[in-house]
Amino acid sequence: MTKPLTIADLKKMAQRRVPKMFFDYADSGAWTESTYAANEADFRDIKLRQRVLVDMTNRTLETTMIGQKVSMPVALAPTGMTGMQHADGEMLAARAAEEFGVPFTLSTMSICSIEDVASVTTKPFWFQLYVMRDRGFVLDLINRAKAAKCSALVLTADLQIIGQRHKDLRNGLSAPPKLTPKHIWQMATRPFWCMEMMKTKRRSFGNIVGHAKGLADLPSITTFANEQFDPQLSWRDVAWIKEQWGGPLIIKGILDVEDARHAAETGADAIIVSNHGGRQLDGAPSSISMLPKIVDAVADRVEVHVDGGIRSGQDVLKAVALGARGTYIGRPFLYGLGAMGKDGVTRALEIIRKEMDITMALCGKRDIKDVDSSIIA
Ligand code: FNR
Repeated sequence: MTKPLTIADLKKMAQRRVPKMFFDYADSGAWTESTYAANEADFRDIKLRQRVLVDMTNRTLETTMIGQKVSMPVALAPTGMTGMQHADGEMLAARAAEEFGVPFTLSTMSICSIEDVASVTTKPFWFQLYVMRDRGFVLDLINRAKAAKCSALVLTADLQIIGQRHKDLRNGLSAPPKLTPKHIWQMATRPFWCMEMMKTKRRSFGNIVGHAKGLADLPSITTFANEQFDPQLSWRDVAWIKEQWGGPLIIKGILDVEDARHAAETGADAIIVSNHGGRQLDGAPSSISMLPKIVDAVADRVEVHVDGGIRSGQDVLKAVALGARGTYIGRPFLYGLGAMGKDGVTRALEIIRKEMDITMALCGKRDIKDVDSSIIA
């Protein structure tokens, strides 16, 4: 293939490079995948206003997210098992993001650990927290993130119980992969992936080793999540987490106006309007369709970010126009990583930046900070 020009190109490349069970893990949504599909489709339905004969020189996409400078309002979303899309995936993605000047968010369920990522980066990254019943374990994770000088804690609120993704069950997902004939075949047909994976020792969940013996296959991951993740987590606990952390806090997984109001009351620095990329409550509305209502309700009190279905720079611009101060991409950077490692993550970011820049100019704007609902047709 010639140089990938779109996120869809990277997706096709990743599908050819990454063993099926891991490609499918990234590419799946819960149950019928209707929310996953709506996340993308609803962006396509938003039309932009074409403006002409306005000065288009000296454009800038630079802005801030939670007061931290970003070269464009796009962060890498926390994604579990990223080190299975490509060996050492979290370390590569974090380096690509820091070189690009955008935040990288490390998942609790990552393959590379907090310390691994800190060892290859020079700028602070963000850490995403799942809250376990064992608060000692939670405190340990928070303290490790502090020691690694993470500059924001992203508290995920929409996964106290794991949504079911049919593809993962059918594929018998596991990390490291089980050596059944089916999985050996999947890997044997992806030699580049195998070669890279053989060079690293990071093949299981780096942040939780020691807390979770034998964690590998989907039943054990699901059991772990269902036993460990706290189903009683409440708004009161957010205050405790905020206090223990003491730094910038972002609450992720808000899709409802009432929940957004609760989140704003916690004094969090930002919320992420998100349905976990359609991986949790199938049948929930798309993130972008909920964004304007949530912005109306709370944007005067808390920064509002959004993720889910962003596949181009145009989508980022639409989200910013509808009131998002920042956006996150999950699958787009995973496809890049699977396709070409660190260069693929950079490529995904370049594609999005270029699309954003051209679109902004054609909508008659020169500064991302001036983009508002006036660019929506
Ligand atoms: C995720 N997401 C996620 N979120 C989170 O808070 N912690 C996690 O560990 C994960 N893991 C994860 C794995 C994979 C493979 C995907 C695709 C997603 C959700 C993620 O942060 C984000 O909300 C969505 O990915 C955004 O949607 P798009 O950009 O993938 O459409």
